[in-house]
Amino acid sequence: MSIDSLGSFVGKLCQVIEGHPTEEQILQETKYLMADLVSTDDWLPDRYAMANPDYYQQYLLYCDGMKRFSIVSFVWGPGQKTPVHDHTVWGVIGMLRGQETSQQYSFNSNGELVAGQRDILLPGDVETLSPTIGDIHEVSNGLSDQDSISVHVYGANIGAVHRHVYAVPTGDRKPFVSGYANSELPNIWQ
Ligand code: FE2
Repeated sequence: MSIDSLGSFVGKLCQVIEGHPTEEQILQETKYLMADLVSTDDWLPDRYAMANPDYYQQYLLYCDGMKRFSIVSFVWGPGQKTPVHDHTVWGVIGMLRGQETSQQYSFNSNGELVAGQRDILLPGDVETLSPTIGDIHEVSNGLSDQDSISVHVYGANIGAVHRHVYAVPTGDRKPFVSGYANSELPNIWQ
C-alpha cells in the first residue's frame, strides 16, 4: 500500500458521483470506500500527519477539479478540539490513527442547542454527517497523551465553505471559513 490508496479512493469516488446518486447513496458508497481507505495506515505522507502544538491541523489532500468533493487529513495534538460547528454539506470521516470523540448537537423544541449522541472513533471506524441526518458537532482528540489522525471527505471544497460555529445552549451562531493548514496551496483552494 502507498499513496496509491488515496488515488484509488479518488477514482472510485469520482465513479460514484458521476452516476448522479442521491445523497443517501453517496454517503453509503463513500462510507464503504472510506472504510477500505482507513483499513491500513501506511499511505498518508508524513507532511500531512504533522500536529501543531497550538491548533488542530486540516491538510487538504485532494480537491476535485469541479469542487464536487475534497479530502482532508485532520491532525489532532493531545487535548485539542474544535468549537461546536456545522459543515452544510455531506461528509464522511474515517479514523486512521489514535482516537477521536464526536459529540453531536441538535436543536430541541425550545430552540436550545443540546448535546446528543457521543461517538468514539477508533482506527478503521467511519462516521457520516450531513444537514439531513445531523450536521452539528464538536470533535476532539480522544487521547490526552498522543496525536490522532482522521481522514475526512466532504461534498465541496470544504476549506472555502461558509459555515458556522455555535454557542451552547443558546444556538447563537457565527460565520467561519476553515481554510487549510497547507502553506504551499495556491489561493484557488483557500
Ligand atoms: Fe466537523
